[in-house]
Amino acid sequence: MSVLVWSLLLLLVSPTTASISWMHLSRQPDLRLRQNKNLCEKVKGFSEGQTQLCRRQVEAMDSVKKAGEMAIQECQHQFQNRRWNCFTLDSTQVFGKIIMQGTREAAFIHAIGAAAVAAAVTRACSRGELQKCGCDRKVRGVSPEGFQWSGCSDNLSYGVAFSQAFVDNPERSRGVSSSRSLMNLHNNEAGRKAILAHMKVECKCHGVSGSCEVRTCWKVMPPFRRIGGVLREKFEGASEVQQRKVGSRKVLLPRNPHFKPYTSSDLVYLSPSPDFCLPDARNGILGTSERLCNRTSQAPEGCDIMCCGRGYNTTETEIVERCSCKFRWCCSVQCKQCRHVMQVHTCR
Ligand SMILES: *[C@@H]1O[C@H](CO)[C@@H](O)[C@H](O)[C@H]1NC(C)=O
Ligand SMILES: *[C@@H]1O[C@H](CO)[C@@H](O)[C@H](O)[C@H]1NC(C)=O
Ligand SMILES: *[C@@H]1O[C@H](CO)[C@@H](O)[C@H](O)[C@H]1NC(C)=O
Repeated sequence: MSVLVWSLLLLLVSPTTASISWMHLSRQPDLRLRQNKNLCEKVKGFSEGQTQLCRRQVEAMDSVKKAGEMAIQECQHQFQNRRWNCFTLDSTQVFGKIIMQGTREAAFIHAIGAAAVAAAVTRACSRGELQKCGCDRKVRGVSPEGFQWSGCSDNLSYGVAFSQAFVDNPERSRGVSSSRSLMNLHNNEAGRKAILAHMKVECKCHGVSGSCEVRTCWKVMPPFRRIGGVLREKFEGASEVQQRKVGSRKVLLPRNPHFKPYTSSDLVYLSPSPDFCLPDARNGILGTSERLCNRTSQAPEGCDIMCCGRGYNTTETEIVERCSCKFRWCCSVQCKQCRHVMQVHTCR
């Protein structure tokens, strides 16, 4: 009997689905949910509340799938030159246990995931792909700068509200009491804030032969690459926090009371990260052996940091390039082929 109780307890404290398990949707074969919303039950990695949302707003699920792809791709782009390069595993944990440990990396992934859902849904709204939302044609009138608002502005409010309902659901259903849930919710919101804070204005000129007598403008979301860059900077400056009780409320306060308080757009984390140097199968860490590194750089992609002091191997590869190109009258370009040897360094 005690064995049973223990296994139940273990199931409760170590759920196999993480709070970002919804991203696993982007790694599953296309379920064609739109055609049959009963298949929402079949999606691996959704929480109960997410399954219900899937049934209620099944037309938004294409955007959720797209958002998973965007988030993973952007994370891998932003971290390609670092020890932790956002590698994914084929499981509903998607990034391995690292996501459950309240680290900076978990903070980034939550933020980029929540931002991606808000962005993908907003884009679908603007394109008229969703029934419940559209683009914002009510931004009207003349701006202080003298241009005319018009056209189709990205209306973030639906996408942001959907992201809050969908991405935050696993935290809310757990009851917002644990420090991890507080951390995840904060970082989800910070991700969405990154879009709101970087909306752009695009304009078109109207007038005789291109003169700009009247200028009409509308608001667009920044490219997702820009959001990735903003959040990557937030990752570098993330605040280490711990849970404290203030009155009857639990809040996250900076671990070091001398550090400045964080804002709602900053990322926060609870525990220091592992060094990611050596393989650790239990936590889904590959280690940096055989990773490419730069011999002369002192940055994280430099061999010193990337290889964790283990040193590196150097191999030579020949690169063939077009060079000494000349323009011939008329009309061709003639080049020579130059060969040069490039050294490639890989961590031991
Ligand atoms: C933007 O979307 C929200 C939520 O769908 C809606 O209430 C609001 O009217 C929209 N705003 C405009 C200006 O269209
Ligand atoms: C290596 O790092 C140096 C210094 O940061 C940089 O100038 C060089 O372009 C890098 N080399 C490669 C192959 O990226
Ligand atoms: C580096 O070189 C050593 C000796 O040539 C070899 O034994 C080792 O497997 C190499 N390591 C990697 C990661 O390529």
